[in-house]
Amino acid sequence: MTHTFTLFTGGAAGAWRVTGVRTLCGDPLPETSRIAITHSTAMPSPHLSSWPLIGVASHARYVQKAERAALSARQLGLGRPEATSAALIPIAKSQAWWDLTQEERREIFETRSRHIAQSLAFMPAIQRQLYHCRDLGQPFDFLTWFEFAPTDAARFDDLVGHLRETEEWRYVTREIDLRLTRD
Ligand code: HEM
Repeated sequence: MTHTFTLFTGGAAGAWRVTGVRTLCGDPLPETSRIAITHSTAMPSPHLSSWPLIGVASHARYVQKAERAALSARQLGLGRPEATSAALIPIAKSQAWWDLTQEERREIFETRSRHIAQSLAFMPAIQRQLYHCRDLGQPFDFLTWFEFAPTDAARFDDLVGHLRETEEWRYVTREIDLRLTRD
């Protein structure tokens, strides 16, 4: 099976300028002024504690049929010209989360935390891509990426604020919220 790896490389180069970093829990990331996003079909050599962060856009684990239709209807994709603001939020979850069964995780993620139901209202203004990295020997389980117009930044703050109050977030052990702008 061929994978496309997405690399987020911190440094002095890259299309996205870092405008803010907040470590919500766990260890911080090394400081960086810019982030470059590149893709590779070969697994790059892993760096366990810093840049680049590497993830794979993978299949959905929890989405049900009606949710998939609702998501697709609001999906405009990344790279919209007006979406010059972005957030990169790498996240790790606890062993207790991974010890649950798929059904138990879906129960917490959607039935009780309403992750999808609550977030759908923020589309299409906010477009997203989830990258998985737990199985790549990476320091995070997920790299989450969001693009929006600068005028929707406050709405994005509302969304992350809601999500961080949910039962799902009790399992988050490391979370860093990087905000970016495309020059
Ligand atoms: C427009 C807003 C959002 C939408 C529509 C959305 C939708 C989704 C969906 C459909 C999934 C499930 C994918 C699957 O079935 O495997 C998911 C997973 C996830 N989302 Fe969101 N989301 C949004 C915002 C956010 C935000 C702001 C964060 C972080 C602060 C976030 C973090 C995550 C994480 C970490 C997962 C993986 C959960 C797991 O597999 O344990 N999402 N999201």
